[in-house]
Amino acid sequence: MCRLADLPEGGSRGFTLHNGAAAEDIFLVHHQGRITAYRNSCPHTGGPLDWVPDRFLNLDGDLIQCATHDALFRIEDGVCIAGPCAGRALTALQVEVRNDEVSVRLE
Ligand code: FES
Repeated sequence: MCRLADLPEGGSRGFTLHNGAAAEDIFLVHHQGRITAYRNSCPHTGGPLDWVPDRFLNLDGDLIQCATHDALFRIEDGVCIAGPCAGRALTALQVEVRNDEVSVRLE
C-alpha cells in the first residue's frame, strides 16, 4: 500500500485498489500511533468523503469528516457521531504494518 514514512502521524491518504476489472477506493489514517483503514464510502450515500485528494480529517485532525455534508466519524472505529448518518459506521479494513510497509486486507 505505502511505506509508513509516507503516512506521517496526523495524516491521511486515499488509494484506489484494483482487483481485475473492479476498483475499490479506500483511505488510511495515522492517528495517535495507530493506522486505520476504511472504504471511502459514506454509509448514507455511498459517496466519497474527501474534498481534495488525501484530505479526510477535520481541521483539528481528530475526526474523519465528510467533505459534502460535514458529517464527523471517529477515527478509531468509523462511527458517525454527527451528521445525516449518525450512529452508522464506515466499513473498516484490516491493516498490517510490517517492516515499515502498510498493507490492507480487503476481506
Ligand atoms: S456522504 Fe454521507 S455524510 Fe456526506
